[in-house]
Amino acid sequence: MRGLSATALVVLPCLLGRVSAIYNPQREYAGDTFFNQFAYYGNVDNTTWGNVTYLDQADAASKQLTFINGAGNAVVAVDNTTTLVAGPPGQAVRLTSLDSYGMGSLIIIDAVHIPFGCSVWPAFWTYGIEEMWPNAGEIDIIEAINNMDNNQIALHSLQGCTKQDAPNEQTGSTLEADCSVAQGCIVAETKPNSFGPGFAQAGGGVYALQIDVSGIFSWFWSRPDVPASIASATSSTPVDTTTWGIPTAAYPSGASCNITAFFPPQTLVLLTTLCGVWAGVPSIYQNTCHTPTNDCFADNVLGNGSNYADAYWEIRYIRTYLAEGATAVQSNVTTPSTTAAVTSDSAASSTVTQTVTTTSSTAASTGTGSGSNTNANPASSGASFSIQASLLLLLTGASTFWLAFF
Ligand SMILES: *[C@@H]1O[C@H](CO)[C@@H](O)[C@H](O)[C@H]1NC(C)=O
Ligand SMILES: *[C@@H]1O[C@H](CO)[C@@H](O)[C@H](O)[C@H]1NC(C)=O
Ligand SMILES: *[C@@H]1O[C@H](CO)[C@@H](O)[C@H](O)[C@H]1NC(C)=O
Ligand SMILES: *[C@@H]1O[C@H](CO)[C@@H](O)[C@H](O)[C@H]1NC(C)=O
Ligand SMILES: *[C@@H]1O[C@H](CO)[C@@H](O)[C@H](O)[C@H]1NC(C)=O
Ligand SMILES: *[C@@H]1O[C@H](CO)[C@@H](O)[C@H](O)[C@H]1NC(C)=O
Repeated sequence: MRGLSATALVVLPCLLGRVSAIYNPQREYAGDTFFNQFAYYGNVDNTTWGNVTYLDQADAASKQLTFINGAGNAVVAVDNTTTLVAGPPGQAVRLTSLDSYGMGSLIIIDAVHIPFGCSVWPAFWTYGIEEMWPNAGEIDIIEAINNMDNNQIALHSLQGCTKQDAPNEQTGSTLEADCSVAQGCIVAETKPNSFGPGFAQAGGGVYALQIDVSGIFSWFWSRPDVPASIASATSSTPVDTTTWGIPTAAYPSGASCNITAFFPPQTLVLLTTLCGVWAGVPSIYQNTCHTPTNDCFADNVLGNGSNYADAYWEIRYIRTYLAEGATAVQSNVTTPSTTAAVTSDSAASSTVTQTVTTTSSTAASTGTGSGSNTNANPASSGASFSIQASLLLLLTGASTFWLAFF
C-alpha cells in the first residue's frame, strides 16, 4: 500500500494537470497603456554590443520609435530617418516589463510584424532580473537575426539543466540540448513564416510560452493557424491550452532539469539591436547577408536609414495569464493610466514592489494535443545567442569560443 499511495501521489498531479489547462488573464500590454508597463533601457547596448543606443521613453516617443499606430497596435522601431556617416550608433529601444512571471504563467504575444533584415537582431525574451545572469535563467521566445527565415527558442541556465527529448513532444528541431552552454539549449522552428518577410506577409502570428512546474513549452502559429481559443479571446477571458496541439519546443522538467529550480520568476524584455555579438559576427552575418563589403556596421548602420524600413515590431498585444491555483509573483506596475503618458524612463523608480510569493502550480498542461510534425524543413542555423551572456563572455575571453563555434 505504501508503494501504491506513493505512486498515486506522483501520478495524480499529472492527471489533474492534463485536465486543468485553464489560464486566467493577469495583465494585458496593448494600446494606449502598452508602454506604461515597461521600463526603457536608456543606455548603449552593453549586453550584446550591438551598434545601438537604446533611448529613454521621452526620446523614443519624440523620435517616433515607440508609438501606438492607427490600428491601435504598439510599434517599437529602429531609427530609419537619421543619416549616420560615422561613429555614433543607431537608435533603438529596449523595454523591460515592470512585472515578472513565475511558475504557472502563460505569456502570449500577437504581432503583425517582427523586425528583420541585414544587421537586425530582434528578441522577445525573459530573464530572472533579481539575480546575476544566468543564475535565474533566460528564455528566448522570439529571436533570430539578419535574413534568417525561422525563429529559434532557447533556454539559458546554470549547469545542470539539459533538455530531454521524447518522441512526439515537440514539432521543432533540437539543435542543442545543454542549456548551460553559451548558445543555450536551442529548438529551431520548423513551421513556415515564423520570422522575416514571411511572418509579415502572412499577417503575422502568435507566440505563446508556458512556464510550469511540469516544464517550459513554446508554441508558434502563423496568422491563419492561430487557434480559436486565442483568436476569439479578449483581454478579460481565460484561455484553454488543451486544443493547442504539440508545442514547437518542449523542455520538460525532470531528472535532467528541474525547471522550477533553474527558472525563478522571469521579467519580459522586448528589443531590437543592430549587428553585435551574434548578427554582426562576420562569419555569421555572411550566412544570410551578402552586402557590398560584408561588414554589418558599414553596410547597414551607416547611411540614410533606408535599410531599417522593416526593422520594427508591430504588436497587437502581449497578454499574461496565471494557471488556476497559481499566485501572481510580483507587480511593479502602479495603477496603469488610460492614456499613453510620456514622462520619463523612471517609471520603475516610482513604483511599489509587492511581496514576492513564489508559487508552485499544479495546473500543468503540456501540449497533449494530437498535432504532428509535418513541416520537416531542416533547421537553417545552429546559432543562437544569449541576450545577457555576451558581457560575461567577453569578460571571460569566451568570445573566441564564439568565433570558433560558428
Ligand atoms: C549597462 O549600463 C548601465 C548604465 O551604466 C548599468 O547600470 C548596467 O549595469 C550595465 N549592464 C551591464 C550588463 O553591464
Ligand atoms: C559597432 O559595434 C562593434 C561591436 O561592439 C564595435 O567593435 C564597433 O566599434 C562599433 N562601431 C562603431 C562605429 O561604433
Ligand atoms: C521591481 O522593483 C524592484 C525595486 O525597484 C526591483 O528590485 C525589481 O527588480 C523590480 N522587479 C521587476 C520585475 O521589474
Ligand atoms: C525542484 O526544485 C524545487 C525548487 O528548488 C524544489 O522545491 C523541488 O523539490 C525540486 N524537485 C525535485 C523533484 O527535485
Ligand atoms: C538611401 O540610401 C540608399 C542606399 O544608399 C539609396 O538607395 C536611397 O536612394 C537613399 N534614400 C534617400 C531617401 O536618400
Ligand atoms: C520608418 O519606420 C517607421 C516605423 O517607425 C515606418 O512606419 C516607416 O514606414 C519607415 N519609413 C521608411 C522610409 O522606411
